[in-house]
Amino acid sequence: MAAPTYQLHHLCIFERHPRESMWNWLRWYHAIPAYYWEGIADLHHTGEGGVDYTFLACGAPFQMQLEAPPYQFEYERNWFAQHGSGINHVCWIVPNAYDTVEHLQSNGAAVAMEYEEFGGTYNGFVAIDPEGRWVEIMEYVNDFKTPDVEFRPVGHVGLQTLGAVQLCRDLDSQVEWYQDVLGLRTVLDARSDNDGLVYLADPAYPARRCVNVLATPGTDAEQAMMAEHGPVISSILYEAADVDQAWADAVAAGFGAISAPAPDDRIGVRTGYLREPSGNIVQVREPLAA
Ligand SMILES: [Fe+2]
Repeated sequence: MAAPTYQLHHLCIFERHPRESMWNWLRWYHAIPAYYWEGIADLHHTGEGGVDYTFLACGAPFQMQLEAPPYQFEYERNWFAQHGSGINHVCWIVPNAYDTVEHLQSNGAAVAMEYEEFGGTYNGFVAIDPEGRWVEIMEYVNDFKTPDVEFRPVGHVGLQTLGAVQLCRDLDSQVEWYQDVLGLRTVLDARSDNDGLVYLADPAYPARRCVNVLATPGTDAEQAMMAEHGPVISSILYEAADVDQAWADAVAAGFGAISAPAPDDRIGVRTGYLREPSGNIVQVREPLAA
């Protein structure tokens, strides 16, 4: 069997109050490509309940899913009981989700949620990568698709979502795993002695400008998150043409300030840090030098 093609799609935030917190995102240049609620008959219903999903996007293909805990499956409730609000998974679109189960399992991943078919919408399952971070796999069926948004930077600050940052304990081994198993390639390597960060991208890059960043903790906030939760999906990464104004606009929109934009020696540009409404880290940085 040929290895599946994995394409980055979204990260999912377990958010206690998605219908309230979405307003902070909308005030910070985001749009809502899709909004699914439990009254939709076919989508993701089980004996345990329906859904409350809000998808958010900002000038790029990578999206965020806000998901309300009371309707989750048991395996998700267990995760929520342990970690609380956090980034639960990164989602990848594949051509055939069923075949992908075998591919990931034979390469050291565990399965958190068995393969399931959700009406005429999508097929999928959830795996766990070698350090414990969750990997959602989706295959669209029929014409179902979470809509895209316009792929260009948004607003006068030129803001654009780039992807997720995943904190690693053994960075080198995780980079190798995502390269070898998910078929990602390195587009930026800022490592030394198994420390730092690496940008990985799927085969659709750069036409679809999404990155999966693997990193060791680089700030006090990331150190604290790693100490409490172990290797987790810590942050959402943005680029802004005007990083100072984008950071100030986020604070005005209700995001928490961690630190104003300052030089990040690892990548040679200024990066600001924030917290989104449910407490996850948001990084917004200047465009990288060519
Ligand atoms: Fe998801």
